[in-house]
Amino acid sequence: MSAKKITVVGAGHVGATCSQLLAMKELAQEVVLVDIAEGIPQGKGLDQWESAPIEGFDSRVIGSNGYDAAEGSTIFIVTAGIARKPGMSRDDLLKTNANVIRSVSKEIKRVAPDAIVIMVTNPLDVMAQVALESTGFPRERVIGMAGVLDTARYRSFIALELDVSVEDIQALVLGGHGDTMVPLASYTSVSGIPLSQLLSQDRIGALVERTRKGGGEIVAHLKTGSAYYAPAAAAVQMAEAIVKNKRRILPCAAWLQGEYGMNDLYLGVPCLLGENGLERILEVDLSDDERAALETSAEHVRSTVEALNALS
Ligand code: APR
Repeated sequence: MSAKKITVVGAGHVGATCSQLLAMKELAQEVVLVDIAEGIPQGKGLDQWESAPIEGFDSRVIGSNGYDAAEGSTIFIVTAGIARKPGMSRDDLLKTNANVIRSVSKEIKRVAPDAIVIMVTNPLDVMAQVALESTGFPRERVIGMAGVLDTARYRSFIALELDVSVEDIQALVLGGHGDTMVPLASYTSVSGIPLSQLLSQDRIGALVERTRKGGGEIVAHLKTGSAYYAPAAAAVQMAEAIVKNKRRILPCAAWLQGEYGMNDLYLGVPCLLGENGLERILEVDLSDDERAALETSAEHVRSTVEALNALS
């Protein structure tokens, strides 16, 4: 099962990694890479296509500075914008990236009014809202990539700590994408064994803390940019769930309409992804502490939206 066309907007670190992964997994017959930087999407797209004979994929990768090549795409993965630099919070990116997302959304609506948008650009929860509002698409078709990445980081740290396969670790991270995310220790298990039976509360707390700061840890190493391999893998996993109608349950940023007692904001929650995009939001029981942490996370998202409204 594959889509006819998937477009990645932004041919930078995250975007180009997405297009290579989409092609290698043959998730679309055509993978289009769009960027405003002249020559970059064309060069990277051609370079990736030239890896096809070696990797054995037949997805055509095409780079373009315009959106006509993206016409009729089933999915858009949006990574356009500027990346976080050391010392810069995700919120510092606010105004610049909001303007980028507004202009990208206009083009998506023009060339593919039925598309599903997977938002990656940070600050994620707020950029997803900007895309929802400027495309006018229903919430089923504008979904943010955050929880899959945050959960992957959490799982990767648990696997290292226990020295076991990442495949056996199931976890759930809710909340906004950022330092206020809410990793749910009570929903974390290793092949069905609750994590609390394998690790002390102190060690779990340390892993949760590392997960919260996972993005910043990479930025501190790279110095000139932010993470891209795991973010791209996360966005592509969401695209795969949609293209193949896998009905996977993945933590994604979704526009809440009463779920978890909240309204009109994007927040990371367990989502069922299928061919129509967001098909269902699952509500799980939370302890008082977890609920309070989710509320704090929501407050952070709301205040970022207010900051953006004040800037605009
Ligand atoms: N239209 C299309 N592309 C754009 C636009 C625009 N209006 N504005 C900027 N871009 C492109 C840039 O030219 C650049 O190639 O977006 C790309 C961003 O790439 P990088 O700077 O390498 O950033 P990257 O590391 O890929 O991160 C992109 O994803 O995880 C988030 O926080 C991260 O918001 C950031 C985004």
